[in-house]
Amino acid sequence: MLSLVTSLLSLLCTAVFSTASPLEPRAPAWEFNVRGNSGIVALEAIVVSPTLVVIFDRASDDPLQINNHSAWGGLWNLETNEVTALDVLSNSFCASGALLSNGTMVSIGGDPRGFVNNPTIKNGTTGLRLFEPCDDPAGVGCMLFEDPENLHLAEPRWYPASIRIPDGSLMIVGGIHENTGFFNDVERAANSVEFFPPKFGGVPRPSEFLKRSLPANLFPRIFLLPDGKVFMVANNQSIIYDIETGDERILPDLPNGVRVTNPLDGSAILLPLSPPNFTPEVLVCGGTNISDALDPSQISSQTPASDQCSRIVLTEEGIKKGWIIERMLEPRIMPELVHLPNGQILIINGGRSGVAAISNVPDPIGNSNADHPVLTPSLYTPTAALGRRISNAGMPTSEIPRLYHSSVTLTPQGNFFVAGSNPNVDTNLTVEFSSEFRVESLDPPFMSVPRPRILTAPSKIGFGKRFTVPVSIPSNLKASNIQVALMDLGFSSHAFHSSARLVFMDAQLSRDRRSLTITAPPNRNIFPPGPAFIFLTIDDVSSEGQRVMVGSGAPPPQTD
Ligand SMILES: *[C@@H]1O[C@H](CO)[C@@H](O)[C@H](O)[C@H]1NC(C)=O
Ligand SMILES: *[C@@H]1O[C@H](CO)[C@@H](O)[C@H](O)[C@H]1NC(C)=O
Ligand SMILES: *[C@@H]1O[C@H](CO)[C@@H](O)[C@H](O)[C@H]1NC(C)=O
Ligand SMILES: *[C@@H]1O[C@H](CO)[C@@H](O)[C@H](O)[C@H]1NC(C)=O
Ligand SMILES: *[C@@H]1O[C@H](CO)[C@@H](O)[C@H](O)[C@H]1NC(C)=O
Ligand SMILES: *[C@@H]1O[C@H](CO)[C@@H](O)[C@H](O)[C@H]1NC(C)=O
Repeated sequence: MLSLVTSLLSLLCTAVFSTASPLEPRAPAWEFNVRGNSGIVALEAIVVSPTLVVIFDRASDDPLQINNHSAWGGLWNLETNEVTALDVLSNSFCASGALLSNGTMVSIGGDPRGFVNNPTIKNGTTGLRLFEPCDDPAGVGCMLFEDPENLHLAEPRWYPASIRIPDGSLMIVGGIHENTGFFNDVERAANSVEFFPPKFGGVPRPSEFLKRSLPANLFPRIFLLPDGKVFMVANNQSIIYDIETGDERILPDLPNGVRVTNPLDGSAILLPLSPPNFTPEVLVCGGTNISDALDPSQISSQTPASDQCSRIVLTEEGIKKGWIIERMLEPRIMPELVHLPNGQILIINGGRSGVAAISNVPDPIGNSNADHPVLTPSLYTPTAALGRRISNAGMPTSEIPRLYHSSVTLTPQGNFFVAGSNPNVDTNLTVEFSSEFRVESLDPPFMSVPRPRILTAPSKIGFGKRFTVPVSIPSNLKASNIQVALMDLGFSSHAFHSSARLVFMDAQLSRDRRSLTITAPPNRNIFPPGPAFIFLTIDDVSSEGQRVMVGSGAPPPQTD
């Protein structure tokens, strides 16, 4: 549909502009545009307001300075395309993060190491870094809060995963106690689950699943399901986890020995949930099928990655059917899967061969364990027939490789922030696959046509409640297809977007096309209480997102 609209539009524009001077606007199309310089390598990214993205790097020798040393945190301004340094106390390298039910962003875990140019840096493995809701469009006065003595994880975690759960708090899964060269290992693994704010006495709960999925189980891919349980993928294994009891139900392994968590990163995403049934489906793409018993000295940067996508419906019937396979247009290690407001999935970045991490294989390219960067994204259409879901028709090609330590997020403007890549230990500007500071946007064709708008939205929306918003809809749109998406844009780190979620909401457009009556998700399992953006898509043309608070905005744990 999108491509149909695009080609119709381009036909139209070719006709209209056929005698145009070179200064006339180009036909609407997908485009990469370099927007600016991030000052630090944006290896983690999370949208924290309509205009701001928090980015993190390792404590290193980045050009962006604060208090006479290199910064490793920053606030990227989507309006001005400029970065402001954030003062971070502890090393946020390879952390995770998410938003709480009261809108506070939490960066979780990190690296124990210091850096010579940052003499005051603190050990980040138990790090909890809070960024309170920020109302200033440029982030003036907004800062990170850390109190390592009093506010910290129960167990050290480098490479953990974290998601917001139905009471609005965070579930934190896995990782390793300290930095590792490549794989996780039995002695140092954080094979446990804990919560922030703490639950169940604050004692981390051991997980057999994490034990079983060693050693390639860093950054587990985890999703909240509509029944309040949590689906997890690590290595080539999957389970459903009961938050209340800690029970783990073993699901089928990924087919064909494909492994998808760090350092053998594929990616995974919860497909859009739609009323009335909100049937959950998970898509897992890329990674590699090499054995996890190999020492990295036995792995090559040239070993083809996996082109496999595996999809499962998480109902009893779907679990019985198991994983259904489809193929990307190319193999990808470290791909990113990101929701579009119309329910399609962007597949972007990564390499065709090798594995994640830095200088472990005997034949690194520069210092990269991966090679042959994929520069052209694809779109995955979940509702299309099997075998016809993936296409790169009309997609642009970037000049910038995005391999290990890169990030992508949908923005409130409706385009994608694409940044980072640094398969090097610190800043290295002279090597192939050098430290990447250029920020690009990937702009959908609708960025250059008249778009629908949600003129205002209530600041809070209640579960199951109907609410009406004023809208404006360009007159050229017939409005034959109306989609309203409630979205968590996720925390991007290591080819995974923690908490990313798209829930479609039933919506009725008034006859005069000036107001839209929307029904919020029925309960906190479908969309856990917390900040979200609402996007309106009419005939595949998406609006900008309107920020709302789902639920009361109270701190976790929220109870009814
Ligand atoms: C930064 O360094 C300069 C020169 O050494 C010094 O005068 C200044 O006080 C330092 N500023 C901070 C915030 O440490
Ligand atoms: C970092 O902190 C953790 C948790 O307190 C501790 O176990 C570990 O030894 C520390 N590592 C270093 C290098 O200081
Ligand atoms: C998953 O990986 C383990 C080894 O890590 C292997 O024993 C098992 O057969 C794999 N499962 C499948 C379905 O290939
Ligand atoms: C592993 O992946 C490679 C590259 O995609 C493929 O050629 C090979 O057939 C796969 N092996 C198995 C056992 O699936
Ligand atoms: C960049 O990486 C290359 C390849 O490993 C290495 O020879 C060089 O010393 C590195 N440069 C810096 C500044 O670290
Ligand atoms: C949100 O809740 C967390 C956890 O209780 C707390 O640390 C933080 O200060 C709260 N933020 C706001 C804005 O209430």
